Amino acid sequence: MQLYTTIAELRQALDSQGRAGRLVGLVPTMGALHAGHMALVDACKAQNDLTVCSIFVNPTQFNNPDDLARYPHTLEADCQLLEAAGCDFVFAPSVDEMYPSSPVLKLNFGELETVLEGAFRPGHFNGVGIVVSKLFHIVQPDRAYFGQKDLQQVAVVKRLIRDLGFQLELVRMPIVREDDGLAMSSRNRNLSPAERREAPALYQVLSHARAVLQNGGTLEAAKTAVINNLQEHPVFRLEYFEIANADTLQPVEQLQAPGVTALCIAAYLGQTRLIDNLVL
Ligand code: PAJ
Repeated sequence: MQLYTTIAELRQALDSQGRAGRLVGLVPTMGALHAGHMALVDACKAQNDLTVCSIFVNPTQFNNPDDLARYPHTLEADCQLLEAAGCDFVFAPSVDEMYPSSPVLKLNFGELETVLEGAFRPGHFNGVGIVVSKLFHIVQPDRAYFGQKDLQQVAVVKRLIRDLGFQLELVRMPIVREDDGLAMSSRNRNLSPAERREAPALYQVLSHARAVLQNGGTLEAAKTAVINNLQEHPVFRLEYFEIANADTLQPVEQLQAPGVTALCIAAYLGQTRLIDNLVL
């Protein structure tokens, strides 16, 4: 495995090591890697000839400076995991390398970003769109791997690919969870032991809402159940719970075909913001 910190070196390595005629897969990450990220790397390895994993804590997608300051950086441990997984190239640029000057370009994803994460994190998807576009330009992958954990990000990147005509396939991978149901996340490292014990409640309330719907309950009943259940865990501060179309992220009025209804939740646990979703 080779680690590159500059765009020129990575490009040169990809070109000289026979990109021609081979499939290149990209796994974009912000590091502090866990089994959720590694599932993307494993899928990428299995489906492509060359696997590139990028590690870059992208400042332009953080709307909250404290969140950026608290974001974990564990490059050495990340590289060990990637090496063991058989990743070919790691791209871990500095902020100056990715942004020699602060980008003035603004991406607007319209309706896609007026809801959920977009509504609560203004500017977030502009930053995601810019960095992902840049990574696509640099690596020119045939496939790129994204997790369902960030369902709205998947929709935004799909739109980016369509609108800008990137020639690549986006592969969406399922959410990897801890044994107690908590969706794996780099931010889980910031939870105190007491918060970590409470954290699985987020998945439990989502699962309960799913059960309400599967038992014929209304969407309203599912929403009420989430609010009531979370009140039993006052350490959580709910930002949103929405029942949305998994592709458009727009709220739905009734259950959709299998694979289309998504239960999406975001809540603060202490200082840490957690998100999760279930697609029915
Ligand atoms: P990051 O949060 O590091 O996540 C990198 C990728 O791993 C994303 O596609 C995310 O959805 C996926 N992922 C995270 N936790 C997961 C889990 N528990 N199960 C499955 N997949 C999971 O998402 C980003 O970084 C950034 O926004 C990025 C796309 C790299 C742009 O900066």
